[in-house]
Amino acid sequence: MNLEELPDKARIVFETIRGRRSIREYIDREIPLEYLKLIIEAGLWAPSASNLQPREFILIKDKDLLRAVKLVSPGLSDNPAAIIVLCIDHEKASKGGRMGETMALLDIATSLQNMMLMAYALGIGSCPIASFDKLALKTILDIPEHIEPVLLLSLGYPKRWPQPPPRKNVDEVLHVDGW
Ligand SMILES: Cc1cc2nc3c(=O)[nH]c(=O)nc-3n(C[C@H](O)[C@H](O)[C@H](O)COP(=O)(O)O)c2cc1C
Repeated sequence: MNLEELPDKARIVFETIRGRRSIREYIDREIPLEYLKLIIEAGLWAPSASNLQPREFILIKDKDLLRAVKLVSPGLSDNPAAIIVLCIDHEKASKGGRMGETMALLDIATSLQNMMLMAYALGIGSCPIASFDKLALKTILDIPEHIEPVLLLSLGYPKRWPQPPPRKNVDEVLHVDGW
């Protein structure tokens, strides 16, 4: 499809989705707090199953804490300016019945994508990090029992925007009206 033919809003949304990259190298520059809060607000606007919103966010800006988190996070590259920890509140998730926990994880994913796109639109690089020691992180950040840190989102102004890793074509994965 020729993007130029699309209405402005559709083109901008698609280019934003396609242009975002996982950024693993950062320059040494702080991110304004109001931008970080806007990124979290974008996460809150993501859809949530039954609108339970069993999500909590921990913003880490302090350099000593960032260093401590890095030590327990093998998946984290370089020195980001900030990290947002995306957490599930299991007390709230349990109100969603049998599927509550699965839905809570999906809620984290919808928030994550909104946050990465918002960051990208602000010129800020981000990378989701699943590889970290949950128990160690809970101790470092004094996270209560019923809160589970699920994912880290590292944030910083990028050294460069890398080339996109390959993606499948629509026709490779699309099954119309049945498998
Ligand atoms: C749930 C999830 C966990 C991820 N964990 C890590 C990680 O621990 N370390 C890392 O460097 N990248 C991690 N990534 C980033 C992926 O490697 C990246 O999204 C993928 O290579 C595609 O690149 P792109 O995001 O630039 O399109 C993770 C991504 C997702 C969605």
